[in-house]
Amino acid sequence: NTTPVKVAVTGAAGQIGYSLLFRIASGDLLGRDTPVQLRLLEITPALKALEGVVMELDDCAFPTLAGVEIGDDPNTIFDGANIALLVGARPRAKGMERGDLLEANGAIFTGQGKALNDHAADDVRITVTGNPANTNALIAMSNAPDIPRERFSALTRLDHNRALAQLAAKAGVTVSDISKMTIWGNHSATQYPDIFHAEIGGRSAAEVVDDQDWLENTFIPTVAKRGAAIIEARGSSSAASAASATIDHTRDWLQGSPEGSWLSMAVPSDGSYGVAEGLISSFPVTTSGGEVSIVQGLEIDDFSRGKIDASVAELEEERQAVTELGLI
Ligand code: NAI
Repeated sequence: NTTPVKVAVTGAAGQIGYSLLFRIASGDLLGRDTPVQLRLLEITPALKALEGVVMELDDCAFPTLAGVEIGDDPNTIFDGANIALLVGARPRAKGMERGDLLEANGAIFTGQGKALNDHAADDVRITVTGNPANTNALIAMSNAPDIPRERFSALTRLDHNRALAQLAAKAGVTVSDISKMTIWGNHSATQYPDIFHAEIGGRSAAEVVDDQDWLENTFIPTVAKRGAAIIEARGSSSAASAASATIDHTRDWLQGSPEGSWLSMAVPSDGSYGVAEGLISSFPVTTSGGEVSIVQGLEIDDFSRGKIDASVAELEEERQAVTELGLI
């Protein structure tokens, strides 16, 4: 296959972009035999910095990198995109209320949704990393009526990977010994990392660990607040790990989930597990042939039910807020 796959990335001159672009260009997303064309979107004042990043991409002489286009117009950058990684977003500034944040990002994701609708390739798949990721994805999806809804997703794979790392450390195993981890709900502090269905070497992870106090008071808060801990330690937010998770999410969407396990992705709800239809909420999913299926039939106990409901309630509030703002 010699036709390059067109991968659009927004916020390309940002921190995550600085890790992500080199991983994509070197073949980590689509494999070393698939040429990629990068199509990079930034706001006008960041284009000069982006030119510097492109100079570095050139200087890596990646055999898989078939070309790079940059610009500040989503209509041009999304033209023919097969994959769109929406990373750029407006960060919360001092004194900004949540409504202000949703509104500022609403302007970005309505415009990008429309541009994807009008210009992306027919097979486009969209991953939203920029926060608030779930609701930004909802806004983009709602403004792209011609793109099938199931092509939109938001990133909870970083939370999933964080949960794998914490559980592996507690159980004294490696992450590859663990299967069936699940993140439910919103990519926010209300998210619910669920180990009741996870397995360690085929045994129930909750039984192997057998420590409800650790689960409630260490594991869940550590995973949910990991982003803040990284800002505290590093002085800026997680970037290389967020880029890595964005690659994992999109690669596994296209190439399929591992046999006998599943992944966490925030996808449009079909009403499964009582999650209101149409919300972009994280679920356990399997992927095959580029299609996502929500894992069905898991038993949800009262503890898990309460956690899932709380996170989904937050997503409902966000949907209500962006509806009132006229963004969806
Ligand atoms: P950053 O601030 O370093 O970079 C963001 C870039 O987006 C900037 O270069 C900015 O100019 C650009 N940008 C802003 N508006 C744009 C627009 N309309 N079109 C194109 N580009 C635009 O931020 P960083 O660290 O790279 O993070 C990016 C986003 O990812 C943030 O919203 C952050 O909260 C989120 N994030 C999400 C994670 C997740 O697990 N879902 C994990 C870590 C970060």
